[in-house]
Amino acid sequence: MKATALANSNIALVKYWGKRDERLILPNNSSISMTLDKLHTTTTIEFSDRYKEDSLKIDGRKVVDGEEFGRAVHQLNLVRKMSQSHLHARVESENNFPKAAGLASSASGFAALTLAATKALGLHLDKKELSVLARQGSGSACRSIYGGFAEWQMGTRPDGSDSYAKQIAPKEHWPELCMVVTVVTQEEKKIKSRPGMSQTVANSPLYKAWLETVEGDLEKVRAGILEKNFQLLGATAEVNALKMHATMHTATPHIIYWEPRTITLMKEVMRMREEGLEGYFTIDGGPQVKILCLEKDAKKIMKRAREVKGVQETMLCQAGEETKIIEKGLF
Ligand code: DP6
Repeated sequence: MKATALANSNIALVKYWGKRDERLILPNNSSISMTLDKLHTTTTIEFSDRYKEDSLKIDGRKVVDGEEFGRAVHQLNLVRKMSQSHLHARVESENNFPKAAGLASSASGFAALTLAATKALGLHLDKKELSVLARQGSGSACRSIYGGFAEWQMGTRPDGSDSYAKQIAPKEHWPELCMVVTVVTQEEKKIKSRPGMSQTVANSPLYKAWLETVEGDLEKVRAGILEKNFQLLGATAEVNALKMHATMHTATPHIIYWEPRTITLMKEVMRMREEGLEGYFTIDGGPQVKILCLEKDAKKIMKRAREVKGVQETMLCQAGEETKIIEKGLF
């Protein structure tokens, strides 16, 4: 009745932005991501009749109510329903990176929670089933079930049974591909992705254009990964991120996740490119900049990023492993 899972976060190269069903978390567009090897969440769950209620601890802090608690309990309820259990759970979770600052903690968080909960209750789900389930906790989590590169196919069915991720390529496919993750602030963002997304869908005049161009981006990024065409992959991912942010910038009220340092870093990546050091940036619902590059340039690009005033941390990541069960628990 107890299990521990480790899930890596993932960074989208073609972003998921906007839902057609907010309850089931069904997206308006498909998305593609790279699972990262160095940013992860470890979650231990125990179900027992000794527990009179669900309890949750994240990074050593007790979470007793609010949205975060509600989302975790909702996910536990889905798993309890599947296994016809009424037992309460003790959940403890640890991230090895700043939470909720645009480094995809909800992706690794819900992927780990989903796998640990299903294992603890004795369910043996395949990857597709896990992906469908993780999606209902947080959309991006459905991609973290896989290692390497994954595509979340939006699906068309109203019940969401065809909305899940599939692997495009395992991590071994392209070991030279790196992502330099920079942290410009450790602060939690003020507007979470969820309300940010619905606000954009509701009234950004650019949202329609986003949806019209995303299919083309998916094709290019998929081909870029499969053919290991770095220029195609990087250039498409960079513009895709800018397009997503443009939809937020033009919503009412507008949402701007960027800090001055975010823009300085974006410009530095463009400058490096002019000098022949090829990197491409991507940014999610937060101020952090992630730079795609090849291993041969990674050290130089890390050094340049670190020299930008205000950059607090840089991490060199490669494609990481799938979500898995581990022996060592948190309690
Ligand atoms: C900008 O998966 O965190 O990172 O489904 O509402 O939980 P919910 O949202 P979430 O959104 C991620 C948005 C993004 C782009 C992406 O990862 O594709």
